[in-house]
Amino acid sequence: MPRFPRFDPSERLGLPAEALPRHVAIIMDGNGRWAKRRRRARIWGHRAGVASVRAVAIECARLGIDRLTLYAFSQENWKRPEREVSILWKLLRSFLVRERREIMDNDIRFTAIGRLEGLPDFVRRELRETERLSARNPGMTLCLALNYGGRAEIVDAARSLAEDVRRGLLSPSAIDEAAIASRLYAPDAPDPDLLVRTAGEQRVSNFLLWQISYAEFHVTPVCWPEFREPHLHEALREYARRDRRFGALPAEAPAG
Ligand code: IPE
Ligand code: IPE
Ligand code: MG
Repeated sequence: MPRFPRFDPSERLGLPAEALPRHVAIIMDGNGRWAKRRRRARIWGHRAGVASVRAVAIECARLGIDRLTLYAFSQENWKRPEREVSILWKLLRSFLVRERREIMDNDIRFTAIGRLEGLPDFVRRELRETERLSARNPGMTLCLALNYGGRAEIVDAARSLAEDVRRGLLSPSAIDEAAIASRLYAPDAPDPDLLVRTAGEQRVSNFLLWQISYAEFHVTPVCWPEFREPHLHEALREYARRDRRFGALPAEAPAG
């Protein structure tokens, strides 16, 4: 029995559990615009966005979603002013320390993907600690994408395969889709079923390029700091209405 309250998806949002995505990925965008509209500094939007991370992660965990991947810092985000970048890392560290209790209370297993060796030491320390403490939790996996790039992830997978070929452990003809998938940052994770982007942009910004080949895309105009449970529910309901065909014909289509 889980120790934390679980929601029944049919009571909570009128959907049977089978209609929910297993893996939800979110491009959390619009913090800066949200703050600017309120005549505040961009960083104020990042601070406000932390509350959305908390609310959405707990809601997904309680609905019984398996995995939630949040795009928190892209490789390209280093192009931002140093002050903004450094405040983002400080916010992440305080999130990791302050929300540890909540992560444990909700049985969440915490993890991260990206070129983590490029993060400041004080962040890596807290990441490792949160990962270690929560490693055996049986509930949802919460994965933060940090210093993450979808192309870089594929490059890293290719290098790791090439290394095995060089050592004579692998033949080039044995490299197939499964072999590449097995070298990604989270090889055991299912592909995202639903990809949500907040703040209206219709692009993937180098997120999970390999894994989203058949994800359903939901773009909402709502900026990340105001994205809460009702917006998540709307995305989940829309997902449940989609007809996922994976290149085949709909089940009821006549042959010929
Ligand atoms: C998303 O919000 C947070 C990060 C990329 C770290 P932005 O900071 O991109 O906000 P906008 O898109 O400029 O409004
Ligand atoms: C994508 O948002 C990255 C994250 C949410 C971490 P950006 O704001 O960096 O993306 P672009 O620049 O609008 O494509
Ligand atoms: Mg943005």
